[in-house]
Amino acid sequence: MSRTPIIAANWKMNMGPQEAKEFLSAFKEEKLCECKGVEKVIVPPFVTIPAVMEALNGCQCIGVGAQDVSDHDNGAFTGEISTAMLSEIGCKYVVVGHSERRQYHGETNTYINKKIKKALAAGLVPIYCIGETLAQREAGELEKILRSQVEEGLAGLSDEQVAGLVIAYEPVWAIGTGKTASATDAQAAHAFIRSVVKETFGTDAADKVRIQYGGSVKPANASELMACPDIDGALVGGAALKAASFAAIIRAAAI
Ligand code: 13P
Repeated sequence: MSRTPIIAANWKMNMGPQEAKEFLSAFKEEKLCECKGVEKVIVPPFVTIPAVMEALNGCQCIGVGAQDVSDHDNGAFTGEISTAMLSEIGCKYVVVGHSERRQYHGETNTYINKKIKKALAAGLVPIYCIGETLAQREAGELEKILRSQVEEGLAGLSDEQVAGLVIAYEPVWAIGTGKTASATDAQAAHAFIRSVVKETFGTDAADKVRIQYGGSVKPANASELMACPDIDGALVGGAALKAASFAAIIRAAAI
């Protein structure tokens, strides 16, 4: 089964509109539109999205996503952004359940499941983040945690919906720490996630769903990770803040 790798830049709370424009002018110099066979996505802070759209100037080779979305359609939810608003400004993807939102904003699998359903209903591609903490890994709970994140986060979705979304496996201990999971450990976790998808949503969904790795991905380790059979791309934080290193990671996925 060949799956198109997807490399996404999660800028987190970095890059205002001006910085994003500078990033994109450097990124254009990398001529990545010619780099076929890789889906490329930039996920800026909400307020930076229009500047990114403007700088892309209709270029279809890079998709744009948001870092979060409301589980409601509209109304009295101060500070929230709806799926319709994201679609209206041209977003195609939305990250949901990032570990920083789980950790600092108390997001649970059940709550994230509502956001995933809203995203799918609006035609957005959810990038659903899962992953264990160091304490959970050391307590031997890796598979238990990943299973509950997959089963509860994707509960109630159809096989086709699961086939079309993206799961990002991001071990919490590897995020922003410089400690990447070894390719062997990452591959084992990805294969396990795919097996859980298969149990619940069938072979076709398991074959089609793309599972990104995230956590200290950089140009130096991207090729080894991307060569693993169950790793279908990367969700990149720190190394995606510089056009040259983000471009190098994209090229690593294209080989
Ligand atoms: P880093 O690449 O900075 O470790 O961040 C990973 C991440 O959380 C992407 O969503």
